[in-house]
Amino acid sequence: MTEILVLGIETSCDDTAAAIVENGNRIAANRVASQIAIHQVFGGVVPEIASRKHLEFLAPLIEVVLGDAGVGFSDLDAVAVTYGPGLVGPLLVGVSTAKALAYAIDRPLVGVNHLEGHIYANFLETPDLEFPLVALIVSGGHTDLVYMTGHGHYQLLGRTRDDAAGEAFDKVARYLGMGYPGGPLIEKTALGGDRYAIPLPRARLEPGSLDFSFSGLKTAVINHVNRQRQLGYETSLPDLTASFQEAVVEVLVDKTLAAARRLGVERVALAGGVAANSRLREEMAVKAAENGVAVYCPRVSLCTDNAAMIAAAGYHRWRRGENAPLTLNAVPDLSLTGIK
Ligand code: KG4
Ligand code: ZN
Repeated sequence: MTEILVLGIETSCDDTAAAIVENGNRIAANRVASQIAIHQVFGGVVPEIASRKHLEFLAPLIEVVLGDAGVGFSDLDAVAVTYGPGLVGPLLVGVSTAKALAYAIDRPLVGVNHLEGHIYANFLETPDLEFPLVALIVSGGHTDLVYMTGHGHYQLLGRTRDDAAGEAFDKVARYLGMGYPGGPLIEKTALGGDRYAIPLPRARLEPGSLDFSFSGLKTAVINHVNRQRQLGYETSLPDLTASFQEAVVEVLVDKTLAAARRLGVERVALAGGVAANSRLREEMAVKAAENGVAVYCPRVSLCTDNAAMIAAAGYHRWRRGENAPLTLNAVPDLSLTGIK
């Protein structure tokens, strides 16, 4: 079989990423130029600064991944790029670069949905992953439960009605003065805490609903800290973060497995930055095993934003002949399932 090399480009938020993936599953090169240190002082991503940094980092990063993979531009078979959802300025840097490159080397351009990319990180780990499956996408901007019956077929089962899971981690960490991004910091602090120390709400919504809601939980954390302060007590950060994390994890695990049960599906795949959370991975594995469900999860570095996942998803689109025209534009609110 001839090898198909896809260059992936990802600039939807604050990570500039480029990767080269062979046949949709073998990573030949994968680099992320993180901007975390640049945005940290602001407590979150500043879109205009992110765009400028993408512009500065992307072209040299593409040269670096070509070098890592030991190939030249002429060896590439397609150029895949995230065109949404995300921040419009940052997306435009990736899309414009990909279009110029695809045109210059005369190779097909493939537009990839960022959330689809997160799901396809699972195919980098498990190339023969079978359908049907339920995917839980948990990132900074999304919390979606998606039913997949085949490559490129997505049906929305549920999603957050307010904050995304990652957003809840980030906002709680910010309120507690812990820094940005909140997820990894909360996970680390929670290691020394008692996850049953502080009772916090689990929003299950109406019976049978597969939607999520995390803003009430965030408010409960804030109220708890305020109440303690009024009483003259110091809040234990390890106990509070562990209790918060447990409340998020419990609802994510319960609803994902409820979806699998309802559809009679034996596989669930985790995707997105919050899937890097070890408590979520652990609890999902335990509860899924009790339900006879197999859990797939990318390694931590492939859960958070990267371009290998974009190249993997791009390869499958390319195989289906779903190439994009050179008029491709950034779509900040791009939907995976047709539902906005
Ligand atoms: O997928 P991602 O890298 O970017 C988006 O597409 O949004 O996800 C970033 C989100 C952030 O909210 C971050 O706090 C969260 O993922 N995150 C985590 C962990 N690592 C990253 N949340 C919980 N535990 C982690 N270990
Ligand atoms: Zn992401």
